[in-house]
Amino acid sequence: MPAMALFIDSSDPKEIKDLFAWGVLSGVTTNPLIITREAPGADLAEVIREILSVSSGDVSVELTTENESQMIEEALGYHAWDPKRITIKVPFSETGLRVLHQLVKRGIKTNVTCLMAMNQAYLAALAGATYVSLFSGRVQDMGYDVRPVIESTRKILDREGLASKIIVGSMRHLMDVNEALEAGAHVPTVTPPILRKMVWNPRTIETINEFNAAWRNRPAAPKR
Ligand code: E4P
Repeated sequence: MPAMALFIDSSDPKEIKDLFAWGVLSGVTTNPLIITREAPGADLAEVIREILSVSSGDVSVELTTENESQMIEEALGYHAWDPKRITIKVPFSETGLRVLHQLVKRGIKTNVTCLMAMNQAYLAALAGATYVSLFSGRVQDMGYDVRPVIESTRKILDREGLASKIIVGSMRHLMDVNEALEAGAHVPTVTPPILRKMVWNPRTIETINEFNAAWRNRPAAPKR
């Protein structure tokens, strides 16, 4: 993974395939809500297998059970699909921390999710999470500025030499991505529409059109 990375927050294999062709993505995040919305009734193993085949890098799959032994069993099942790339998304809670600890001891990649505050991310990082996921849009929905949350999380991870990478998800606007990057996110995870907005600029389109029109309408070379 590059020092700074960009993940796609989607469970749509077609979109994921198209967008990986840009060469800017290095991982995928999914969650039960995204999968339910994008592929209602689909078989999870099938969807994740397709995503693995059209992408590269870590693919986060979230646990849906709620007690410790079931969560560990569920995690081991997902991990077996591709031990190098499957990253277990563990919802943050006291139970989540216990599950995380067990998975870390087994050397399984983890993404601790649904984090709204630095103190939560700090605990997940201390327990050895590969990734800690802060939810930008949901923090802002509560009326808070997410930038200080990202900044203080990055500061404390760096100061303590903790290896967890900060994913910032729950992006609602292009501006959320810019702010997450500036505040110190290691990995923004963006939806396909937001990734496309990162490309689009009317002045860029206008300029390219102007250059191409000039070329099309160039005078013929003088005859010798
Ligand atoms: C991140 O990993 C999550 O999948 C996602 O970004 C959550 O976003 P939401 O607030 O739009 O549900």
